[in-house]
Amino acid sequence: MRVKTLEWKPDAPGAALPGCVRMVDQTRLPERLEYLEIREVPELWAAIRELKVRGAPAIGVAAGFGILLAVQQPALDTVQAVLRSVEEAAAFLAGSRPTAVNLFWAMERMRRVARTWGGADASASGLKARLAGEAFAIIEEDGNICRAIGEQGQPCLDGNPSVLTHCNAGGLAASEYGTALAPIYTAAERGKSVRVFADETRPLLQGARLTAWELMQAGVDVTLICDDMAGYAMKKGLVDRVFVGADRIAANGDFANKIGTYSLAVMARAHGLPFYVFAPRSTIDPALPSGEGIPIEERGAGEITCGFGRRTAPEGVRVWAPAFDVTPARLVTAIVCERGILRPPYDSAISKVLADDNP
Ligand code: MRU
Repeated sequence: MRVKTLEWKPDAPGAALPGCVRMVDQTRLPERLEYLEIREVPELWAAIRELKVRGAPAIGVAAGFGILLAVQQPALDTVQAVLRSVEEAAAFLAGSRPTAVNLFWAMERMRRVARTWGGADASASGLKARLAGEAFAIIEEDGNICRAIGEQGQPCLDGNPSVLTHCNAGGLAASEYGTALAPIYTAAERGKSVRVFADETRPLLQGARLTAWELMQAGVDVTLICDDMAGYAMKKGLVDRVFVGADRIAANGDFANKIGTYSLAVMARAHGLPFYVFAPRSTIDPALPSGEGIPIEERGAGEITCGFGRRTAPEGVRVWAPAFDVTPARLVTAIVCERGILRPPYDSAISKVLADDNP
């Protein structure tokens, strides 16, 4: 079973707008598969902030739809009003989460369409239709790109693979297929057996709640471990490679991903295991020369001290809660994107793949 993580649902057949964003509420999994229907930009902001929708590519798709929520109000009947609402919604949504660059990338695409088609001879309805077209292109491309990553990643599954993964970089983190899990799904569809060990991923347990759930839905052999078991699993030979996604990749190949990824990369190197990063080109931020400049989201202490409603640390204890860490490029065996496998030196490989304009 494949779940549609999020989609645009028009109110009436035949017209894209008005409509709503229909998404899986990921905070309810694995207990319940529930869908939310979001009609207002502040609601979407909160859904991103609270990780009801999460994962870099999915956040990008959601941001594109967020612009549609903003512009679909019938009262916005002049081009100027539509343009203003695009800018306001983009600025507002930018404050939801800082690390995944896909959010900013998608909003920039929407703003570019607004600038290009919002000239003097445009109509408000024509501009809204262009924006809807762009948001739909973003989600359609995401599906194709994740499939392509699945294909490009097949050489990383040579032999009799047993993969350690962290957080959730599967279908729930994108519009449907995922990034780090995409090669595993592709291999499984072709009858190749892949064993997966999923880190539970403290504090919000995306590995336990989401990765274990979606791999089981797909019939993939998955074993859940606590984060602190990863090193021992490597030492015992239970895993022979690491697959992770990314929230932002700097021009030199340093990348941010869920907190704990850096430790895995260090441990993989210590055990001589390959460490692969899977991400679309939209996750690359060429404006950042290195990972030093990646903004790292810090989350509330309660997620650590009182996660899921159960107090597990003393009231008032000081807490540090970065949601992501940065892994240096030197620990990365390869970065796999929709165009192929990038190997060190990453600065030249990345600038080359970004310059490739072929459709
Ligand atoms: O805080 P989250 O759940 O949004 O963090 C997600 C991750 O770290 C993923 O690994 C990353 O976004 C890549 S998703 C294809």
